[in-house]
Amino acid sequence: MPPSSSDKVITCKAAVAWVAGEELVMEEVEVAPPQPHEIRIKVICTSLCGSDLSAWESQTIFPRIFGHEASGVVESIGEGVTEFKEGDHVLTVFTGECMNCRQCKSNRSNVCSVLGLERSGLMHSDQKTRFSIKGKPVYHYCAVSSFSEYTVVHSGCAVKVDPQAPLEKLCLLSCGVATGLGAAWNVADVSRGSTVVIFGLGTLGLSVAQGAKLKGAARVIGVDINPEKAIKAKDFGVHEFLNPKDFQEPIPQVIKKMTDGGADYCFECVGDAGVVTTALQSCCDGWGLTVTLGVPKGKPEISAHYGLLLTGRTLKGTMLGGWRPKSDLPSLVDKYLNKEIQVDELITHNLPFENIKEAFNLMKEGKCLRCVIHMPK
Ligand SMILES: NC(=O)c1ccc[n+]([C@@H]2O[C@H](COP(=O)([O-])OP(=O)(O)OC[C@H]3O[C@@H](n4cnc5c(N)ncnc54)[C@H](O)[C@@H]3O)[C@@H](O)[C@H]2O)c1
Ligand SMILES: [Zn+2]
Ligand SMILES: [Zn+2]
Repeated sequence: MPPSSSDKVITCKAAVAWVAGEELVMEEVEVAPPQPHEIRIKVICTSLCGSDLSAWESQTIFPRIFGHEASGVVESIGEGVTEFKEGDHVLTVFTGECMNCRQCKSNRSNVCSVLGLERSGLMHSDQKTRFSIKGKPVYHYCAVSSFSEYTVVHSGCAVKVDPQAPLEKLCLLSCGVATGLGAAWNVADVSRGSTVVIFGLGTLGLSVAQGAKLKGAARVIGVDINPEKAIKAKDFGVHEFLNPKDFQEPIPQVIKKMTDGGADYCFECVGDAGVVTTALQSCCDGWGLTVTLGVPKGKPEISAHYGLLLTGRTLKGTMLGGWRPKSDLPSLVDKYLNKEIQVDELITHNLPFENIKEAFNLMKEGKCLRCVIHMPK
C-alpha cells in the first residue's frame, strides 16, 4: 500500500508561464497525488537549460510549468511503484526508459516509445495534467515541470541516485552535461587524435568539449557568436575559439583551411537549423560526422546539398546523448563522485526559487552557463 501522503493534494509555489516569452508568475498550484506508476517529488534544485528558454519563447501550450533539469527527493509514490520509496534521491529525465518497448529492449537506442519526449504538456499515462490552479489545468513540460516546489513524474522518468551525491550540483546531469558528454562518447565515439568543431559553447557545447578531451581529441575548435564564451571554453578543452562575426568568409571555409579539408567531427549545440548545415559543411570528405544536439525554436527543416552526403559525410542527432537514463545515468553520477568529470565548473550562478526570472534573463542575455535554482528548504 502506498503511504498516506500519496492520497493528498499538495498546494505549493510554482513559476507559471501564462504567455510565450512573458515573465513567469509565482502562483499557488495544486499538485495532484501520484497516479499508478508515478512518483511525486519534492524538487531540491533545478537548473535552467537552453531548451526551457526556447520552449518558453516559442511554444503555444499555456499555462505551463517549465523546467526539466532537476534533482529532488521522492515525497510519495503511486500504486504499483516498487523501484522508489519516500526519501529516495532522484534525477528527473525528459525522456524516460520503460525497459519494455522495442526501443528500450533493442540496446541500440535511448528513445523510449512509451515514455519518450512528451510534447503535448500532459502526462504519458492518461493524457491529463497533475497541476491545476483553482481546479483549472496547468500544463507540464516534457512530463517533468521542475519549476515547482513539488512535481509528479512517471516512475520511468526518474533515476535513483547515490544519496551521498550533492543534489545541488547533480541536477546538471539530468540533461545538459549528460547530453554533451554522451554526444561525444556514445553518439560520435570521438577517436584519439581527431579534430572536433563545436558550434555553440553553452553547457551542451562545453560538455561535448569535455567529452572530446577525455577521448583524446587532438584539436577542439569552438565556434560561438558571443566572445565571452571563449573564456570558460579553455577550461573544458577548447583549444581555439572562432567568432563567425570576425570573418568575412563563411565559417566552413575558415574551418576547412584550418583543418586540411574539414573536421572529423562537428557538433551543433546552438539550436539553429542553419548552423546544422554549416556544421555539415565544416566536416571533411569521406568520414566527417556531424552530430546535432540543438533544438531549433524557429525553422525546423534542415537543408544540405546532397553532395555533402555523397562524399561520405554523416548527420546524426541525439536526445540525452544516447544515454538510457535508468541504465546509464547512475554511472555518470559515479564518475562525478570520482572527480572524473567536471560539473561544478558549469554552474555560474545560484539563485533562490523566488528569483527564477533573473535566471531566464541571464540565459537570454548569454551571461550564464547554468544557473541553479534552489527551492525553499
Ligand atoms: N538534444 C538534447 O537532448 C538536448 C538537451 C539539452 C539541450 N538541448 C539543446 O541544445 C542547445 C544548447 O543548449 P544550452 O543549454 O547549451 O544553451 P545555451 O544557450 O547555453 O548555449 C547556446 C550557445 O550557442 C551560441 N550561439 C547562438 N547562436 C549561434 C550561432 N549562430 N553560431 C554559434 N554559436 C551560437 C550562444 O551564444 C550560446 O553560447 C539548445 O538548442 C537546447 O535546446 C538539446
Ligand atoms: Zn521504452
Ligand atoms: Zn535540457
